[in-house]
Amino acid sequence: MTYQNLSIAKEDRIAIITIERPKALNALNTETLKELEDCLRSLSKDPAVRVILITGKGKSFIAGADVKEMQEMNSKQALVFSSLGHRVLDLIQEMEKPVIAVVNGFALGGGLELAMACDLIVASDKAKLGLPEVNLGVFPGFGGTQRLPRLVGILKAREMIFTGEAIDARTAQEIGLLNLVVPDDDLLTKTKELAKKIAGKSENALALAKKAISQGVGEMGLSSALALERDLFARSFAHPDQREGMSAFIEKRKPRFQ
Ligand code: CAA
Repeated sequence: MTYQNLSIAKEDRIAIITIERPKALNALNTETLKELEDCLRSLSKDPAVRVILITGKGKSFIAGADVKEMQEMNSKQALVFSSLGHRVLDLIQEMEKPVIAVVNGFALGGGLELAMACDLIVASDKAKLGLPEVNLGVFPGFGGTQRLPRLVGILKAREMIFTGEAIDARTAQEIGLLNLVVPDDDLLTKTKELAKKIAGKSENALALAKKAISQGVGEMGLSSALALERDLFARSFAHPDQREGMSAFIEKRKPRFQ
């Protein structure tokens, strides 16, 4: 599939998806969401790719769902649109490979919601993050009411959702909404360094850890989540990377993971 609103670059086992609708500040319309879905499904099967980065072209990461497309929607159409957004963001969360949001500017509404579905979020020191949907007479519909409280706590999440005000990158990091804030010019370089570190680890171990965290923390009570962790931990011992990783440690050498 060729994409109208995305570009894909691959280097050193890292794939970089760039959302390219700069005139609309990379707002997510149906076409872009469908392209993202297709692209993520194909990268998830690509053996040359270990880590996926998602970023935006120009001064914005993603300024939200496309307001111009939503303006005339009725409830039924809004449900279809929200379901599509949920499907794409769930795919990011559920795919085995780690996904890093590279927030190069505005991450608003659906843009912040997409970033929160990623495994890690790195931002430029110029980024602005928020859920401004109440200013439009609606509220976050791509997972924001659920993922934001899980990341920053329910009180802070209510404040951000109820006021609709954006916060800067430093504040976002202080409340636990970002892993890393870096100078704007270094954003991609620093994120690639982080991605390379991750790409060198056992792919199997990463996939199992991601599943334990996403499913356990997101969907389960503590005792069921610990049972899931036990099962997945046991499963990691059925993979050759376990022998290799532990032998390498004992033999004081670098592991050669599959
Ligand atoms: N949808 C569609 N178009 C958008 C857009 C969006 N979310 N955000 C920006 N644009 C468009 C603008 O309409 C404008 O287009 P025109 O040139 O045709 O007028 C263009 O991008 C540039 O935007 P601005 O002129 O507004 O740029 P700015 O630098 O002055 O302001 C901004 C930047 C503060 C991000 C401002 O554009 C803004 O507030 N955007 C909307 C943010 C928003 O409300 N996001 C939430 C969307 S709803 C949502 O996401 C629902 C959900 O949960 C699923």
